[in-house]
Amino acid sequence: MWIFGRKGASGFSASSTAEDVTKGIDATGLTAIVTGASSGIGFETTRVLALHGVHVVMAVRNIESGQKVKENIVSEIPNAKVDVMELDLSSLASVRKFAAEFVSSNLPLNILINNAGVMAPPFTLSKDKIELQFATNHLGHFLLTELLLETMKRTSREQNKEGRIVNVSSEAHRFAYKGIFFDQLNDESSYNPIYAYGQSKLANILHAKELTKHFKENGVNLTANVLHPGSIQTNLLRYHNIINGVVDWIGKYFLKNIPQGAATTCYVALHPQVEGVSGEYFMDSNIAQPNSYAKNAGLAKELWDISLTMVAPYH
Ligand SMILES: NC(=O)c1ccc[n+]([C@@H]2O[C@H](COP(=O)([O-])OP(=O)(O)OC[C@H]3O[C@@H](n4cnc5c(N)ncnc54)[C@H](OP(=O)(O)O)[C@@H]3O)[C@@H](O)[C@H]2O)c1
Repeated sequence: MWIFGRKGASGFSASSTAEDVTKGIDATGLTAIVTGASSGIGFETTRVLALHGVHVVMAVRNIESGQKVKENIVSEIPNAKVDVMELDLSSLASVRKFAAEFVSSNLPLNILINNAGVMAPPFTLSKDKIELQFATNHLGHFLLTELLLETMKRTSREQNKEGRIVNVSSEAHRFAYKGIFFDQLNDESSYNPIYAYGQSKLANILHAKELTKHFKENGVNLTANVLHPGSIQTNLLRYHNIINGVVDWIGKYFLKNIPQGAATTCYVALHPQVEGVSGEYFMDSNIAQPNSYAKNAGLAKELWDISLTMVAPYH
């Protein structure tokens, strides 16, 4: 239990903060993209990566709030290298535009943190007529990753350094419908907000698993891992006022705070212990076990093929 701070094999526990798990790491010269960097875990991840010298591109849907976050970070860390770029993951056109602008900037890319997420909204279709949680949490990140892969591969070759893709999933993957309901993805009558959230988070795990397979088959010096950050009081519960109110009230006694909530992301993104590790599920900065659907190679391949069809043509 994290409240007891029991350390796992990594030497870190659920009570470790993002600064604890990255202590002493010099990440100067690395470039990262963090999606959903304007609040919660994404904000703290950006701050701590910048603290260690990483040039962070904050990929946010609201440029104004992104700029405010950047100003806060720079006022605390005057030499922080932070840029803000617009990205709405629920729009495939926006993902394409972001990726095209990033690629044409000629920046290297060592770390891609697919962090942004929405949780359990009422049934909504995205601009592309795809259920909002699947669209935002999985499909937008799937396309983003595909469009940035060549840049990541080039960077890893030129710098002779492993590139890392980090998907922020959730223990809620255990509440998915049975696996992924491919035939009913956009069907309002069978929609359950929590199961659909779980489904999108299961997709985050399967995505990293299939990426790992491709990287190994092609001898690419990139890794893809996935994590549950813990239960943290953030804006994620914005669609559920009553639960949010209760969590606000008593959360400080049993939930992680945001610095603890960003720890596993920062650990997986930067820590030397994770060198060469790919396709794993992390929790509390230690390797953990997701459920059997998340380990199903056939399901990972099916999700990959269907996702490719859904984003086609992706160039
Ligand atoms: N908090 C927890 O207990 C918990 C537990 C397990 C997993 N997670 C996962 O952790 C990740 C971060 O969540 P959080 O807790 O930090 O929540 P949060 O504070 O609500 O942050 C979510 C971020 O995602 C962004 N976002 C939402 N929709 C987007 C879109 N269409 N395009 C671009 N960005 C979008 C939000 O932007 P705006 O600020 O503009 O809305 C926000 O910056 C999520 O993937 C979530 O599923 C959280």
